[in-house]
Amino acid sequence: MTQLLTTDPTFPLSRRGDVFPEEAGRLREQRPVARVRTMTGDPAWLVSSHRLAKQVLEDERFSLKDTANPGVPRQYALTIPPEVVDNMGNINSAGLRSAVMKTLAPRADRELDGWLHAEAHRLIDELEAQGAPGELRDGFTEPYSAALHCRLLGIPSEDWRRLMSGIDVAFLTSPVPFEGSTPNWYKDLGYMLGKLNADPEPVEGLLGRFAALRRSPDVPDRVSDELLATVALSLFGAGAVSTSAFLLNAVVYLCEQPELAERLRREPALIGRAVDELLRVNLSIGDALPRLALADVQVGDVLVREGELVLVLVEGANYDPAVFPHPERIDFDRTENPHLAFGAGRHFCPASALGRTHAEIAVTALVERMPKLRLALPVEQLAWRPGFIKRMPERLPVVW
Ligand code: HEM
Repeated sequence: MTQLLTTDPTFPLSRRGDVFPEEAGRLREQRPVARVRTMTGDPAWLVSSHRLAKQVLEDERFSLKDTANPGVPRQYALTIPPEVVDNMGNINSAGLRSAVMKTLAPRADRELDGWLHAEAHRLIDELEAQGAPGELRDGFTEPYSAALHCRLLGIPSEDWRRLMSGIDVAFLTSPVPFEGSTPNWYKDLGYMLGKLNADPEPVEGLLGRFAALRRSPDVPDRVSDELLATVALSLFGAGAVSTSAFLLNAVVYLCEQPELAERLRREPALIGRAVDELLRVNLSIGDALPRLALADVQVGDVLVREGELVLVLVEGANYDPAVFPHPERIDFDRTENPHLAFGAGRHFCPASALGRTHAEIAVTALVERMPKLRLALPVEQLAWRPGFIKRMPERLPVVW
């Protein structure tokens, strides 16, 4: 029997990334726009159907930028400077869009596919040399994602571990601001400034583009070194955390349903559709996409009032049976797949093509090289990280 919702649920939902949270399905059925309490104790509207999630993301009266204003209801405490929340808005208004979009376009770098392929195989060689069981987060997904982002930015790949450890702090979800968040941000900002101002100047990647741009007479004064370093740091953070958490969760699904991996080995041309479906089912987004209402707006049965916080639950939309028949089935034959894993509307992920390429090459390498890839422990024993914007297992021990 379906359990009825009586009180305002608290958000976020369950941390496990291997099972669609029951609460999400119940909310969508009973109250697709539900009053919830966030971890800061603030009220918010949680939107969990595909249609309404898309409506909110595509309506400019729901603002991401304004969620950083002082005194507004919050999903969790801010751990990055408020002006960084609207990252893409800052990039556009500083005239940096073209440099950033070139960096994020996988087709702009003709050697990228081959490089990613070599990187994935190099990491698998290392795992194999150590022997099974191995640990795929530290041994594969994080170094692979981080190395890609070091390349995009034009910084040495040996620095990947120090930058990833900054992410562990920068993306904590906490009910209150905490001591380490400000020094954590400025430590990594200092690192990026150092690389930007290195002698000789950077010539590769985004920092190379920025260094060249800085010399151009047309560049406005408002484009300070600090702004350039901030853009680089925030792209590293957004990209490395999203790609590595998604890939880690995708590997869990493939280990749990080896017939899917077997099919990819037999039909490698399916990889594009397979990654799209893995994006749909992935539960790596552990928070919700926050928006602040700038006006009174009707969303489903609810009149959202100006100043209220709306939280878009991506997994609610991506498992909505009204759009995805048998949503819990991972089905590589789905041809229509309008999932919201990259968001929608104005803030749609500017690196969706790159995110796909990154995962396609990694998954192809893993299924080819490790045909017997399985979890080394029962899936229930995976430890899912608490208090973080992503759902991800702390460790992913596997055998092959
Ligand atoms: C599988 C990989 C990825 C996933 C699932 C993903 C997911 C998302 C989602 C859901 C949003 C929308 C946020 C919102 O509406 O509030 C977003 C935005 C964004 N993503 Fe990604 N992302 C991925 C890869 C990347 C990469 C590789 C980068 C950069 C290197 C990146 C940079 C950004 C930026 C800058 C935004 C903000 C866009 C804006 O505010 O207009 N993402 N991403």
